[in-house]
Amino acid sequence: MMLPLRKNIAEMTGYVPGFQPEESGWIKLNTNENPYPPSPKVVEAITAEIANGGENLRKYPDAGSKEARRVAAELYGVDPSWVVMANGSDELLNNLIRAFADAGDEIGYVHPSYSYYATLAEIQGAKIRTFGLTDDFRIADFPERYEGKIFFLTSPNAPLGFGFDNEYIAELAERCAGILVVDEAYVDFTNVSAMELVKKYENIVVTRTLSKSYSLAGMRLGLAVAHPEVIESLDKIRDHYHLDRLALVAATAALQDQNYLQTTVARICETRDWFSAELRKLGYCVKPSQTNYIFAEPSDADGKQVYDALFAGKILVRYFSDPLLTHGIRISIGTRDEMEQTLAVITETG
Ligand SMILES: Cc1ncc(COP(=O)(O)O)c(C=O)c1O
Repeated sequence: MMLPLRKNIAEMTGYVPGFQPEESGWIKLNTNENPYPPSPKVVEAITAEIANGGENLRKYPDAGSKEARRVAAELYGVDPSWVVMANGSDELLNNLIRAFADAGDEIGYVHPSYSYYATLAEIQGAKIRTFGLTDDFRIADFPERYEGKIFFLTSPNAPLGFGFDNEYIAELAERCAGILVVDEAYVDFTNVSAMELVKKYENIVVTRTLSKSYSLAGMRLGLAVAHPEVIESLDKIRDHYHLDRLALVAATAALQDQNYLQTTVARICETRDWFSAELRKLGYCVKPSQTNYIFAEPSDADGKQVYDALFAGKILVRYFSDPLLTHGIRISIGTRDEMEQTLAVITETG
C-alpha cells in the first residue's frame, strides 16, 4: 500500500538509540546512564503516589507541573514563569524545532554532537547545517551573524566531553539571529553552566535532563529555563498531560535532594578521573571530561577493535561509525567495580 506519508518522513531513516540488551550480565556503559540508583526520596515519593491501591492514578496529573516548576525555579534562582518541565529533554529539543523552525528554515549544530537534532529537523522538514570544531574547541567558521532559526550547542559536548566557557557562549548568543539552545544534559558533572546567561540573553534556552546526574532515565524527565516568552511558546505546543503523576513527584523529589545529587556526582567524577588516568598509562589519549563519560582513543586509533574486545567480554560501550569518531570509543562511567573490569579487558587487549 502507498501510504500518504510526507516526503521527508518517507525519506528519513529515523534515530537509532543506544543498544539496550534484554538479557542480564552486561556491564552497560553505552548510553551514559547513572550507575547509582536515584535518591531514596524519589522512591518514597513514587510509593506515596501509588498508595491506597493507586487511588491517585485515577485522576489526570497537573497539566502545569506547578510544583516541579516551582522547585526547579527556586533551584536556578528564577521565577517559575522561566521554567518548563518536559518528558525528557528530547521533548524540549523537539518542541523547540516545532516552535521556531518552519519547513525549509535552517537549524545548526556542532558536528560531532547530539545527532538527534538532525532527526528532529528532518521530521520538521527544516534544513540542517553543521559546523566543525577547531583544535582549541571553538566552532569552525561560525558566521559573524548566524541567520538560522536555532543553533544547538551541546555543552559539555557529547561525545567528546569538553565544555564551552560562558564568555564564548555569550558571544555566540550575540551572533545568533535566532535561538541559541545550550543543551546542558551533562552539566551537573562540571561547574560551568550557561544558566546565568539566560537572564541576560533573551535568545538563550538552557535545557537540562534528569536522565543522567539524577539517575532518572527511566522516568523521562527534563526541563528548560528561558525567557518567559520562549517558555510560553513551548507551553503552547506541548501535550497538555506530557508528564504523568509518577514523573511529576519524582522530578520534585529529585530536584529537592541536592545533597544526594552532589554525593553521587562526586563518586562518578572520582571514578572518571581515576579511569582516565589508568587509560592514559596504557597509552590512550583521553581528553579531560566534564561529563559522566570519556572519549578514549587507543594509540592505534582503532576504536572498533576495542569496542569488539569489550563486547566479547559483555561490556557495552559506544562506537560511532562517523568518520570523525572511529579512532575512539565513548565509555560511560559506571561503578568503580565496573570500571575495574573494563580496564582489565582493555589491558588484556593491549
Ligand atoms: C546531549 C544530549 N542531549 C539530550 C539528551 C536526551 O536526554 P533525555 O533523556 O532527557 O531525553 C541526551 C541523551 O543521551 C544527550 O546526550
